[in-house]
Amino acid sequence: MRILLVASAFNSLTQRVHAELREHGHQVGVELALGDEALRARIAEFRPELILAPMLTTAIPEDVWTAHTVLIVHPGPKGDRGPSSLDWAIHEGAPEWGVTVLQAVAEMDAGPIWASEPFPVAACGKSELYRNEVADAAVRAVLTAVHRFATGGFEPEPLDYDRPDVRGRLRPYHEQRYRRIDWAADDTATVLRKLRAADSQPGVLDELFGREYFLHGGHREDRLRGTPGAVIATRDGALCRATADGAVWLPQLRSRRAPGGPPTFKQPAVAALGADLPADVPEVPVSPIEAATRDTWSELRYREENEVGYLEFAFPGGAMSTGQCRRLLAAYRYACTRPVGVLVLGPARDFFSNGIHLNVIEAAADPAVESWHNINAMNDLVEAILTTTDKLVVSALAGNAAAGGVLLALAADEVWCRESVVLNPHYRLMGLHGSEYWTYTLPRRVGTAAAERLTNEALPVGARAAAALGLVDRTLPGDAAQFWSRVRQDAENLSAATELADRLVQKKRRRAADEAIKPLSAYRAEELAQMRRNFFHPGEPYHQLRRNFVHKVRPAATPSHLTIAR
Ligand code: COA
Repeated sequence: MRILLVASAFNSLTQRVHAELREHGHQVGVELALGDEALRARIAEFRPELILAPMLTTAIPEDVWTAHTVLIVHPGPKGDRGPSSLDWAIHEGAPEWGVTVLQAVAEMDAGPIWASEPFPVAACGKSELYRNEVADAAVRAVLTAVHRFATGGFEPEPLDYDRPDVRGRLRPYHEQRYRRIDWAADDTATVLRKLRAADSQPGVLDELFGREYFLHGGHREDRLRGTPGAVIATRDGALCRATADGAVWLPQLRSRRAPGGPPTFKQPAVAALGADLPADVPEVPVSPIEAATRDTWSELRYREENEVGYLEFAFPGGAMSTGQCRRLLAAYRYACTRPVGVLVLGPARDFFSNGIHLNVIEAAADPAVESWHNINAMNDLVEAILTTTDKLVVSALAGNAAAGGVLLALAADEVWCRESVVLNPHYRLMGLHGSEYWTYTLPRRVGTAAAERLTNEALPVGARAAAALGLVDRTLPGDAAQFWSRVRQDAENLSAATELADRLVQKKRRRAADEAIKPLSAYRAEELAQMRRNFFHPGEPYHQLRRNFVHKVRPAATPSHLTIAR
C-alpha cells in the first residue's frame, strides 16, 4: 500500500512505524504537519491509500479526513482523550495503560477504533516509556489496523462509553499546577511520579536558590538525607535534593525563559545553576561497582556474573558530553583490567547513545572548541574499544542509537540489538562528516556502497533491516528485560565456549593486519580534518543546525530526505 505518515515531528515512534511499514513491503511517505495547504499538496502528489498519524499534536483538516481514511495513534486506552494521556497515567500511578489507533473525525480522539493494545507502565520517565513500552504497543496496534484496512471488511468500533472495555475518559491538559512539588510534604514516591510524568517535556517548574527552573528526570537516592527541599549533594553534574522521607537525584534543569529573553534548553543540573550553587554542597561520587549494588543515581554501573563483565551506561537523551565520555572511558579501562573474557556494553533500557552532547556544546563559551573536545573524547573511547584484543566486546542495544552513538556500538566485536530498535547511522542532518572511526568500521561491516547509501540517505533503519545489512549481528525479541535476559544467557555461552580463545587470537590478528594496511590513527586524522572544518569554518552549516536542534526549531517544510517514497 501507499501509506503517508503525517506527524508533528519525525520522532522515535514515527521513525519506528516508518521502518516497520517499509519492512512489511509498504511504500511509505512522510509529511510533517506544518500546514494544511502543504498537506493537501502532498496528498495530491503522493496519492496515499491510507494516511497514518503516529504522533500528531494538531488536527487534520476535515476535507482530508472525509476524502481519505486517516488513522491516528493515541497513547491512551480505549475512551481516553486529551493531550496529556501519558502524563496522567504516570501521575496517577496506573499499572497498565494502552495505545489506541482511531479514525480521524471532527472531535479529537473520538473517532471509531481500529485497534487498541495494552502495555505495562514501567517506573521511568514519560519519554522513556514512550520510546519503549508505548512504541512497542503502538507498532502492534498500527500493524493490526493497517492489516485490517488492507484486507477490507473490518468495521471500526464506534467509541461507546457504555462498553465495559472502554475505561478511558476525556482529561484536560496536565498543567504545572498538578505537577508542583511540595518538598516539605511530598514523599519520594510522589516526587518521582511528578518528575516522571513531566519528563522530558515540559519538566516540573520549581525554584532553586531563588530562581525558577524546570526539573527534568529523577531517580531515588537510597542513603543521603537532609532537610526536605534542601540540595544535599552533587554527582557528575546532577543534584541530590531531600524529600519528606528521603531524597531524589535531578540530572537536568532548564531555566525558565524570561519574557522577551532567549530560549532556554536543558543542561546538566550543576552547569545550569552555575555560580548559584553554594560551594558547601558536597560532591558525593559513587563508583560503577558500588552503583551496581545500590538504588542510587549513577550514569555508570559495572558488575560481573559468570565470567562476563557488564558495563552499563545511561545518559539522558543518549547525549555524551566530553566529561561523560571520559568517565565512561575510565570505567571501560577498569573493566578491561578484570579477568573476564566477554565484556557487554550498554544501558538497561532506552537510548544506547546519540553521540556528542549538542546541548552542552551549545551552552559552552566556545561551541566549536567544545565540539572538538567532545569528538576527541568520543574517539578516545571508541579507540579503546577497537583496540581491546584480549576480550570479546559486545554492544547490547536495548534502545535506539544515532549518529556517533551507532558508531560507538559498532566499535565492539558484536552488536546485539532488540528487535524494536531504530538506528540512524548518519551525521549529515547535523552538517557533520562524522568521526568515531566510522570510515573504518561502517564499510568493514556493510560494504562501501551500503555505507555510502546509509550516510547519504540519512534515514532510520529498523533492527531487522540493520541485521540484513550486516550493520548489527543479531536481533533479539521482547521487551528490555527479556532482551537482557537473552543477552546474559548468550554472553555467558560465549564466555564458556571453547572457541573463545581462538576467536580472541583471530581478533588480535585481524586488528594487526588492519593496522598494517591503514593505522587507526590515519582514519582518525582524516575524519578529524573534516570535522575541524565542520566546527571551525565559518561557512559550515553545523552550528546553525545544532542551534535549531537544541532550541527545537520546527523546519519550514518537510526535509527532502523524507519526501521520497521508499
Ligand atoms: N545531544 C543533546 N541532546 C540530544 C542528543 C544529542 N546528541 N540526541 C538526542 N538528544 C535529546 C533530544 O534533544 C531530546 O531532548 P528532550 O527530551 O529535551 O526533548 C531527547 O534527547 C530525545 O531525543 P528526540 O530527538 O526527542 O528523540 P527522537 O527519538 O525523536 O530522535 C534522534 C532521536 C537521535 C534521531 C535525534 O535526537 C537526533 O537527531 N539527535 C542528534 C544526533 C546527532 O546529530 N548527534 C551528534 C553527532 S554525533
